[in-house]
Amino acid sequence: MTIIVTGGAGFIGSNFVFHMLEKYPDYRIVCVDKLTYAGNLSTLAPVMDNPNFRFCKIDICDREAIYQLFEEEHPDMVVNFAAESHVDRSIKDPFTFARTNVMGTLSLLQAAKVYWESLPEKYEGKRFYHISTDEVYGALEMTHPEGIEPPFTTTASSSEHHLAYGKDFFYEDTKYNPHSPYSASKASSDHFVRAFHDTYGMPTIVTNCSNNYGPYQFPEKLIPLFINNIRHRKPLPVYGKGENVRDWLYVEDHARAIDVIFHRGKVAETYNIGGFNEWKNIDLIKVIVRTVDRLLGNPEGESEKLITYVTDRAGHDLRYAIDSRKLKNELGWEPSLQFKEGIEKTVRWYLDNQEWMDNVTSGDYQRYYEEMYKD
Ligand code: NAD
Ligand code: TYD
Repeated sequence: MTIIVTGGAGFIGSNFVFHMLEKYPDYRIVCVDKLTYAGNLSTLAPVMDNPNFRFCKIDICDREAIYQLFEEEHPDMVVNFAAESHVDRSIKDPFTFARTNVMGTLSLLQAAKVYWESLPEKYEGKRFYHISTDEVYGALEMTHPEGIEPPFTTTASSSEHHLAYGKDFFYEDTKYNPHSPYSASKASSDHFVRAFHDTYGMPTIVTNCSNNYGPYQFPEKLIPLFINNIRHRKPLPVYGKGENVRDWLYVEDHARAIDVIFHRGKVAETYNIGGFNEWKNIDLIKVIVRTVDRLLGNPEGESEKLITYVTDRAGHDLRYAIDSRKLKNELGWEPSLQFKEGIEKTVRWYLDNQEWMDNVTSGDYQRYYEEMYKD
């Protein structure tokens, strides 16, 4: 089995590559990545010498290079993680998002189509697996069922009770309603993937996942940014009042879900992947602050004074919450890690891997960050 994994030098892609190489020693993984500011080869250092792994620095928009790689590697599967992934950047520069997320996905689809259709067996045993986000569904309300103030307990997860901030969830058939340029570009790419199934019969799968956290996430996203800023005694910029809600999933649980769906999911299906783990940003931030302070030996709550309320993100989606019971009921997947354990592991990882952090935050990112918060 040869799998092309795009975006494998990024956060979720790298965690997926590690998972697959460890679990399936006879699979060949060919990683395609342009190495933008968000992709870093130091992330892939642990697998660079693995004989079943190959890294190729290619832009997914480069159709010729992608097609050539298909001819060289004869892939059975493609897993497409490559994307511009940060909402704040998409607000400043939507064109880059349209280019990579829409045109790049289309370029991969076209290369896969031309190559697989040239084979005697055509699409038999092949899969194009596209990684998407819950943000394509838009935003959910914070509702108060029967007059109870949120958070309240819901029965949406059959495995354990959890706190939810509303009655509604995103389901696989929830209508797409993206608000940010990022989510609009992801929605568009999802439509292209489904169109290639419906039009050409390509065996495609799309999964929509909630916010991931864990090792190797670029420190422009909330959790690693805040851990890094606490360490360097920099302000912690909370957008608006910190009331927005996200559903957090440990990245290795996402990688396990993709593995399960990749092997046993039905072609042309959509699966939602989520943590049943909703947090208001400000509550999550306080957990991060307490955990970092404890692990660094700071007095309790010392870093709370770094919390700084800043202008809200334009079009800031209020709440995301995934219902992933389809995946549990049909394929038996559910999150394995409790949030308390996951956040502890995550904070420890960033504190122990300062060299990785310094490496990825040098240069361009530093300039972007200073520009972003100059007011
Ligand atoms: P990331 O920004 O950490 O990594 C993206 C990777 O894609 C980087 O290595 C980058 O170099 C590469 N890339 C960007 N443009 C490219 C191009 N034109 N050609 C080749 N490579 C290119 O992102 P992530 O958080 O790992 O997200 C991976 C995927 O998962 C994305 O499609 C994202 O939309 C989706 N997703 C992310 C989350 C999340 O919480 N991070 C949640 C749900 C879905
Ligand atoms: P982020 O990690 O950017 O993920 P997404 O926007 O894709 O959900 O942000 C998570 C939440 O944290 C989101 O509601 C925006 C908020 N946020 C801040 O309050 N401050 C920050 O500096 C960042 C990066 C995010």
